[in-house]
Amino acid sequence: MLDSTAVAPKAARPSVPSSWLAQAGRTLPRYTSYPTALAFTAAEDDAEARSWLAQIRPDQTLSVYTHVPFCKRLCWYCGCHTSVFHEYDRVRTFFETLKREIELWAAAMPAHAGTQHLHFGGGSPNALAPADFAELVAVLGRAFRLRPDAEVAAELDPGLLTHEFIDAAVAAGVNRVSLGVQTFDPDVQQKVNRIQPFEQVASVVARLRDAGLAALNFDLMYGLPGQTPENVAASTRDAISLAPDRVAVFGYAHVPWMKKHQVMIREEDLADAQGRWDQAEAADQELVAAGYVRIGLDHYARPGDPLAVAAASGRLRRNFQGYTDDPAAVMIPVGPSSIGRFGPGFVQNAIATDTWGRAVEAGHLPVARRLPVTEEDELRAAVIERVMCDLRVDVGAVCTDRGFAPDALDSCFAGIAELEPLGLCRLRGRVVEVPAAAARLVRTVAACFDAQLAGPARRHAQAV
Ligand SMILES: C[S@@+](CC[C@H](N)C(=O)[O-])C[C@H]1O[C@@H](n2cnc3c(N)ncnc32)[C@H](O)[C@@H]1O
Ligand code: SF4
Repeated sequence: MLDSTAVAPKAARPSVPSSWLAQAGRTLPRYTSYPTALAFTAAEDDAEARSWLAQIRPDQTLSVYTHVPFCKRLCWYCGCHTSVFHEYDRVRTFFETLKREIELWAAAMPAHAGTQHLHFGGGSPNALAPADFAELVAVLGRAFRLRPDAEVAAELDPGLLTHEFIDAAVAAGVNRVSLGVQTFDPDVQQKVNRIQPFEQVASVVARLRDAGLAALNFDLMYGLPGQTPENVAASTRDAISLAPDRVAVFGYAHVPWMKKHQVMIREEDLADAQGRWDQAEAADQELVAAGYVRIGLDHYARPGDPLAVAAASGRLRRNFQGYTDDPAAVMIPVGPSSIGRFGPGFVQNAIATDTWGRAVEAGHLPVARRLPVTEEDELRAAVIERVMCDLRVDVGAVCTDRGFAPDALDSCFAGIAELEPLGLCRLRGRVVEVPAAAARLVRTVAACFDAQLAGPARRHAQAV
């Protein structure tokens, strides 16, 4: 039972072995897919995507991801694909193209079992005008046959979330909202150009609940300039006081070579590996003391929440939106940069909004990159997903379930053997287990099963 008003007894934060901090500083993928999007290669046209789409079976449910690449403000830490708009005309043009894209995908679809998850991400889907967003939900619902019990989730920026938008979104069927909270500390907010007082978020939360919203997620961050374990703990307590159902705690990924505006954040203002660890630990202690269940690498949920239930029963999944209880094997990508998944492989829509728009206007599915997956990729993906979700994987069982010899991935145990003496995992037979204390470093264990890390140098964010 959650009690957000209780004052949590403060345990001393455990000290972290230096070998763990060295691992925490490694740059590794987030493993929201395997192979990762960096492995995708250019698509010549949309013929392959159409042939993959044609292989959807009538009994398969869909998941549809729609990306809205617009925001009213630019947060300096932002790693998302977005741009700031000043005139709504730009967003409206995008919206018209988006509807055309939805028609193209829907026309290319064979029979399927309907859509179980509709997810709006960005950017900020609430950059759309309330009536346009409501129309978008309806258009998608008709095009991909939304099932009556579907989850309809939207990531929204509380700083520009109007009451009109909330009412329109909930009336249109949105039943889960993720709010970007990040931090409530005014100095940190100043340092990252995201002013968002507690009262503003509290008022948005109250309105969402009044409108009848069923489920609320918060995103929190650590590792931002000016953050300390103390102010992360305080922000986490403030967040808990608003009683979200789920909380994701993301470590700031500083990748200025990819996201140029991050140069506004001075590297000397960023905490080192020990500091980042302590901040993540501070958030963790507050959430666990308030009754949230820790899930995978960086998520927390109330005990009865579907994500916690999925985690407890081994049904947790990991996809491009992070941890999910969505089992759909087919993901339809809508909007620039969106990633889709079909039986034979991954596709990614053109990243630049104008390139994406030109493809759609020419009547093409706007796919720009793709990756066919091999059976071995799928085997490695299954092992990586299980360890990322369950902190435990029976590698031999996954191999035999997929028609491989039980020893097919034994060569990966050399990497595991290097991590085991550090206390980051245990190997018993072919079962790999990550102790709860090392959950934050699970990506280092997952990386042992990644055949592509040794390939051409690729730059990811650091592991913790
Ligand atoms: C699309 S935004 C959420 C919706 C909305 N745009 C907002 O900011 O409130 C997705 C989330 O990604 C996280 N995020 C953004 N940039 C990040 C970065 N560089 N490192 C880690 N997490 C980041 C933030 O927690 C943010 O809430
Ligand atoms: S964090 Fe959210 S609101 Fe801020 S720039 Fe990124 S997508 Fe936009």
